Amino acid sequence: MKTIGIVGCGTIGTFLAKRINKDFKLLARLAGLCDIDEEKAKVLSKKLSKKIPILSLDQLIEKSDLIIEAASSSISCNICKKALTKGKDVMVMSIGGLIKDYKSLFSLAEKKKATIILPSGAICGLDGLKSAKLANVRKVTLTTRKPPKGLKGAPYIIEKDIDIDAITGEQVIFEGTAEDAVKAFPKNINVSALLSIAGIGAKKTRVKIVTSPEYMVNMHELEVEGDFGRLVSRTENVPSPTNPKTSFLAPLSALATLKQILNPSQKIGT
Ligand SMILES: NC(=O)c1ccc[n+]([C@@H]2O[C@H](COP(=O)([O-])OP(=O)(O)OC[C@H]3O[C@@H](n4cnc5c(N)ncnc54)[C@H](O)[C@@H]3O)[C@@H](O)[C@H]2O)c1
Repeated sequence: MKTIGIVGCGTIGTFLAKRINKDFKLLARLAGLCDIDEEKAKVLSKKLSKKIPILSLDQLIEKSDLIIEAASSSISCNICKKALTKGKDVMVMSIGGLIKDYKSLFSLAEKKKATIILPSGAICGLDGLKSAKLANVRKVTLTTRKPPKGLKGAPYIIEKDIDIDAITGEQVIFEGTAEDAVKAFPKNINVSALLSIAGIGAKKTRVKIVTSPEYMVNMHELEVEGDFGRLVSRTENVPSPTNPKTSFLAPLSALATLKQILNPSQKIGT
């Protein structure tokens, strides 16, 4: 029986807590919940069939075999460090927060015989990129299309004084490296961080962000070129009802990854 602690009781944390209780009754147990806004943790705890304790981050790490981070890119690196230092496995959703330090976190995980788990989240094609990376990969490009409300409040939008509600047609909002995209849109662009880590790094991975009031879904188009040939994937994501910035595929991907961890007797795909 694996004990699981969840940090961040919003859209992803709530979805996972409910499904862990329902789908993995015999394989896992929720050890605790943690949120910077304790009220959110209380609300989630009440929604679950069994009362789950609300803990501080340190207590949660102590009581869990696996910590799931579903909080914010401002804290994900710190959560990783703390969990790995205690030899605990950690699944990270706010991957943008790892972009600077992932190599040292990977070394720490190895030293402590623990595992960092980065689910594919809202993008498809990571399986191909991982395989392609075993030979030469020349180019990785991500084009993200989101409705204006999904980009609202991002540091780049505020800094450049972009009136997102005034946009009438299709408009390219940002073009640059994944390294810059993560800083400019920290709540939107976890997929570009993940692609950078899995592929050719944040300085070489190119990102384009496009918006239009006509867009109904969060769309990610991935293009990879290398010795293997060329890969193009397009994921048309339905936004989560409680957070338009988060695609529904993201919590589903975390759940699928969890299923793989808890039941390792089958492994399908790369
Ligand atoms: N990897 C992916 O493909 C992918 C996709 C979607 C979202 N995400 C990321 O996953 C994270 C969670 O997404 P969500 O939709 O559930 O967000 P959300 O806003 O619905 O919930 C986040 C929760 O975390 C809490 N929180 C914020 N800062 C915290 C801190 N320092 N310590 C503890 N709790 C904190 C908030 O109070 C909130 O309850 C976000 O960082 C988001 O960018 C990743």
